[in-house]
Amino acid sequence: MAFTFLQCIEEACGRRQDPKRESHLCAWCGGLLDVRYEFDITDPETLRAAWHQRRLSGEPIDRSGVWRFRELLPFIGAHDRVISLSEGSTPLVGTRRAGWWAGPVHLTIKHQGINPTGSFKDLGMTACMTRAASLGVRMVACASTGNTSSSMAAYAGRAGMKAILFVPYRQISAAKLAQALDFGAMVVEIGDSFDEAFSLLRQVAAEMRFYLVNSINPFRIEGQKTIVAEMMEQRAWRPPDYIVVPGGNLGNASAIGKGLRELKEMGFIEKVPKVVVIQAAGANPFFRTLRAGSKELIPVEKPDTEATAIRIGRPANWKKARRVLEWTGGFCESVTDEEIFEGKAALAEDGVGCEPASAATVAGIRKLVRAGKIERHADIIAILTGHQLKDTDYVIRHHSAAEDSRQRIRVDANLDALRKALEGVLAVRA
Ligand code: F0G
Repeated sequence: MAFTFLQCIEEACGRRQDPKRESHLCAWCGGLLDVRYEFDITDPETLRAAWHQRRLSGEPIDRSGVWRFRELLPFIGAHDRVISLSEGSTPLVGTRRAGWWAGPVHLTIKHQGINPTGSFKDLGMTACMTRAASLGVRMVACASTGNTSSSMAAYAGRAGMKAILFVPYRQISAAKLAQALDFGAMVVEIGDSFDEAFSLLRQVAAEMRFYLVNSINPFRIEGQKTIVAEMMEQRAWRPPDYIVVPGGNLGNASAIGKGLRELKEMGFIEKVPKVVVIQAAGANPFFRTLRAGSKELIPVEKPDTEATAIRIGRPANWKKARRVLEWTGGFCESVTDEEIFEGKAALAEDGVGCEPASAATVAGIRKLVRAGKIERHADIIAILTGHQLKDTDYVIRHHSAAEDSRQRIRVDANLDALRKALEGVLAVRA
C-alpha cells in the first residue's frame, strides 16, 4: 500500500503534513498543498493490463473512469465508501473540419461534457467526496461559476451530505443553477463575480464547519488527474504533442500536469505532452502574469467574458498551473469572445457541441498555429470541459441576433407564407 501525505507546494516551505487534516492550505505558510504518495508501483505493464481488464467488470468501482485507475489514488482505504456516479470513461472523438480550421492540425477531442452532470468536475468530485465521506463530513460547500456546483450538488446528494453553494448573482447559466436546485443544494447568490463569492465563502467556511470542495482541495485534483491515464490508455499509451485546456481557476491544468508527471515518473509514458492553457481575453490573469514574467499574480479586477464558466480574475491554483507549464514546456494564450464563438462553430461543423468555455481550446490552437507557436499537423488533444446544453442561452442569443439569420425564421401559420419563407431562405423553386 502506497504511503500518502500532503506537501506544501511553496519552494521556501515544502513541509509535509498529515493527510487527515480538513484544511486545504499549509499549516505553516498558507500555501497550496499537493497530495503526494510514495508509490509502490514497479511494473506498469501489469497495471495497464489490470486497468484494461476492469473495463469488462460490472463492479461500480470498476465502471468509474476515475476509480478504475485507483492505484493512482491510493489515499482511499480498503473500507472507504466510494461516492461515485460512474464518471469518466468519456470518448475521444476525431475531428476533420475543426482540425482543419484550427491548423491544419491533427485534432482529437476528449469530451468531458459526457459525464454524469455534464462537465469534467465529476472526476474531481468523486475523489474529494469520497475523501469527505471518510472524514465524516456532513456539509460541503463551494463557490462556483456553475459546473462545480452542479457536480457538488449531485455527489453530495449521493453521499447524504448537505450542499451549500455560493454563486455570483445572475452570473451563472440557468441550466447550471437548475441542476444544483434539482439536486437539492442550498444556493447562496452573492457578489458580482466568482472571486467575490469565493473570497466570502473562504472567510466563513471554518466557522460554519463547511468542508470546501473547490479545487484548492487537493483531493479534487487527484480525481481530475485520472483523465490523463484514461486518455493515454485510449491512445495505446502514445502521448499527443499537446493537451489543450481552458483555464479558469486553473485546477484542471494543475491536475493534468500532475497526472502526466506521475505517469512519466512511474514509466507509463516516455514523452510528456506540452500542456497549453487558453483563457478568455476578458478574464486572462494567468496569461497576463506569465507574459509579464511576474512572480505575483496580476489579477483581473472585473473579469468579463461570455464564457461564464471561466470568468475568473484571481485563479486560486495559478502557482500549480505555472509549475505545470514549466514541467511540460507548455504555454498560455488568450482569445476573444468572438474567437471563442468561431471555435464553437468550427466544432459544431464536426457535430461536436460544447459550452463556450470549452471552445476556447480550438480558438487558442488556431491562434497559436498562426503565430507559429504550435506547428502545423501537430497531434493535439483538446479537452472540452462542458456539455453543449450547459449554456443554451448563449447559443440562442448568438443565433437570433443576426438580422439576416437563415437559421431561425418565424412564419405565419398558412401555406402561402410558409412557401414564400422557405423559398426565401433555401432558394427553392416551386
Ligand atoms: N471549462 C468549464 C466548462 C468550467 O466550468 C471551468 C471551471 C473551466 C473550464 C476551467 O477549469 O477552473 O479548472 O481552470 N469552472 C469552475 C466552476 C470554476 O465553478 O464550475 P479550471
